[in-house]
Amino acid sequence: MKIAIIGSGGREHALVHHLSNSKKLTKIYSIPGNAGTGEISLNIDLNLENFQDLYDFIYKEQICEKFNIPTAKFKICKSKEDSFVFLSSSNFPLVVKADVLAAGKGVYICQNIDEAKTAINEIFDGKFGKADQVLIEEFLEGDEMSFFIISDGISYKTFNTAQDHKRVGEGDTGKNTGGMGAYSPSSLINNDLENKILNRIIEPTLKAISEMNEKYVGFLYAGLMIKNNEPYLIEYNVRMGDPECQTILPLVDSDLLEIINACCNSKLETYEIKWKNKKSMCIALCSKGYPEKYNKNIEIKNLKEFKSTKDNFIFHAGTKNSGNKIVAVGGRVINFVNISDSYLSSRKEIINQIKKLNWENGFYRSDIGHKVIDK
Ligand code: GLY
Repeated sequence: MKIAIIGSGGREHALVHHLSNSKKLTKIYSIPGNAGTGEISLNIDLNLENFQDLYDFIYKEQICEKFNIPTAKFKICKSKEDSFVFLSSSNFPLVVKADVLAAGKGVYICQNIDEAKTAINEIFDGKFGKADQVLIEEFLEGDEMSFFIISDGISYKTFNTAQDHKRVGEGDTGKNTGGMGAYSPSSLINNDLENKILNRIIEPTLKAISEMNEKYVGFLYAGLMIKNNEPYLIEYNVRMGDPECQTILPLVDSDLLEIINACCNSKLETYEIKWKNKKSMCIALCSKGYPEKYNKNIEIKNLKEFKSTKDNFIFHAGTKNSGNKIVAVGGRVINFVNISDSYLSSRKEIINQIKKLNWENGFYRSDIGHKVIDK
């Protein structure tokens, strides 16, 4: 079977790595890929925003042709006046969200009515572009968890859990990033919680989709808040998470291409996904300055010497070949993953690996998993 993976991050390198082990694979392309995917697949330099070029390539190469939910209470308000009326009967803290694309910035956590009014004024006055409405939502306290399933439109299988670390600084401080690291499985998951997530969140969602005569096929990522072993849905993403994907795939003990094939052919019900009974951790090595300004095109001298092994995995994210050198071109540059019997030994092994890399422009969080390791 021929496969093309679209994207150029660590998640995509992890997918290419695990699909490459499949007996069913005949050829694999990465569009556009990075220096790491270039070592194990054929990188195709296409502009991802040009769907016609993507379609033409995939068609020419004949790739994969076959291929009452608990959440925060909320209200959508269409004017400042509506919003102020709703605020007068609300409990605090609460969350005010601009209903525009604001790269995560249009979200306010308001401790009192004055803060909420400021947020609403700023949003309707155009701080994030034209806004016709705001979402005012109960503030959910608890711990976040990423929960994954794979669905073929008829049945589904769970696809493990993970805990990611979004903040740039140790102790979960500082600015939000795309993800500084993750561990899997989440320490929050247990049978009782999993049953609640499936019965109250996942299954009602899939049922609602099928009642609309639609099918959900692929990975579904539920971003959850867990409080007192009760799950609340924060958001759905119709993809694997990054860096959760890099963290979870090394735990899969089945052929990933067979799983995807079973998904595309509506055969998941009878397909048993096997898992390694191990812990996994991923730490992202980033360019100094990220998530703000950072220098690009700096050589990572001995990166080619690092190869994935049975327990250690190296997934490129922001790298590029430049002549016979590999240079860093992104904020998150390399994902180091280790699987072992404990989060602590995985963290130690990853830090050991990172220290062998000859790249002075990088930094990483050395406390990934601190809530489970250092408590
Ligand atoms: N790890 C968060 C995300 O992929 O959106």
